[in-house]
Amino acid sequence: MAKIKQFEQEWIPKIDHLLDSQMNYDVSQPELLAAMKYSVDAGGKRFRPLLGIATVLTVNKQVGAVQLKALSAIELLHTYSLIHDDLPAMDDDPIRRGKPSNHIKFGDALATLAGDGLQALAFQWVVDNQLPSTVKSELALKLAIAAGPAGMVAGQADDVLNENHELSYDALKKLHRNKTGALIHYAVESGLIVGGVNEADRKPFLEFADAFGLAFQIYDDILDVISNERELGKPVHQDSGKNTYPNLFGLSKSKEILAITVSKAMDALDLISDEQGFDTKLLKEFCGYFKIEEIE
Ligand code: IPE
Ligand code: IPE
Ligand code: MG
Ligand code: MG
Ligand code: MG
Repeated sequence: MAKIKQFEQEWIPKIDHLLDSQMNYDVSQPELLAAMKYSVDAGGKRFRPLLGIATVLTVNKQVGAVQLKALSAIELLHTYSLIHDDLPAMDDDPIRRGKPSNHIKFGDALATLAGDGLQALAFQWVVDNQLPSTVKSELALKLAIAAGPAGMVAGQADDVLNENHELSYDALKKLHRNKTGALIHYAVESGLIVGGVNEADRKPFLEFADAFGLAFQIYDDILDVISNERELGKPVHQDSGKNTYPNLFGLSKSKEILAITVSKAMDALDLISDEQGFDTKLLKEFCGYFKIEEIE
C-alpha cells in the first residue's frame, strides 16, 4: 500500500474524532453547534491537518493528543472559509462536501455565524493546549497572517471584486496564492513550528507548501471544468466570469502550468532530503492528488 493511504487510514479517523468531540465540548449554543458540526462532519479530504501532521512526522517528531488538537485547528478555519465562500453574497453555491451548503440548510444568518464560530474556535485550539507558550503564540500569529487580510481573506476579496474583470497573470497568481495558498502554507508551517524546526531549515518546506498550495487552486479551477458534482461533492462549471487558470489560459496551458508547479513542489522536497536528510516520501505522495495525466 502507498505510504499516504496507510497514513490517511491512520490519521483521518483521529482528526475526525478530535474535531467532533472537542467541538461538543467547546460549543454550548445548540443550534450553533449543529450548524458548525454539519459542515465540519460533512467530511472533506482533511488535507490541511494531514499536511501538518505529515510535516511533523517528516522531521521525526511525534504527534500526540496535544499536538493533534493544535494541528487540527486549521480544518475549522478552512471549513469556515468554505461556508462563507458558498454564501449567496459570495459564490452562491448550493452544494458543499456532497450535501446542501450550510446556508441552504440553516439560513444565511446561522451559516455566517457558524463560520464566525469556526474561525474563532480555530484560534482557541492553537492556544488552549499544553504546548509551550512560545509555540502557541507563533501558531496563533502565523494562523492570523495566513487566514486574515494578509492571506486568505485578501485573496477572497480579490476574487469577488474582480468577477467579470480579467486580471493579469501576476495578479491571478497572487489571488490564488492568497485565497488558497496561504492556508496550505500555514498547514505545513504549523507542522514545522510544532516540530521545533529552526527558521533556516523551514525554507524548503515552505517552498514546497507554496508550490503545492498554488497547484491546489490551479487544479481546483481545472476540476471545475473537467470533473463532476458526484466526484467533487460540489457543483461544477461555477467559475464563469471568475479569474481562473482555465478561463485565462485555456485547459491545456493550465495543465502545463500545473505540471510545472507540481514539479517545483517535488524539487523542494528533494532539496530537503539532500540537505537535511529527512525522508520526504510521504510529503511527495501528497502530490499524487494531482492527476495531471487525466486532464484533457
Ligand atoms: C476547497 O478545498 C476549496 C479550495 C481551497 C480549493 P478542498 O478541496 O480542500 O475541500 P475539502 O476540504 O476537501 O472539502
Ligand atoms: C475558494 O476558492 C477558496 C476559499 C478560500 C474557500 P473556490 O471558490 O474556487 O473554492 P470552491 O471551488 O468553491 O471549493
Ligand atoms: Mg470562491
Ligand atoms: Mg467557491
Ligand atoms: Mg473552485
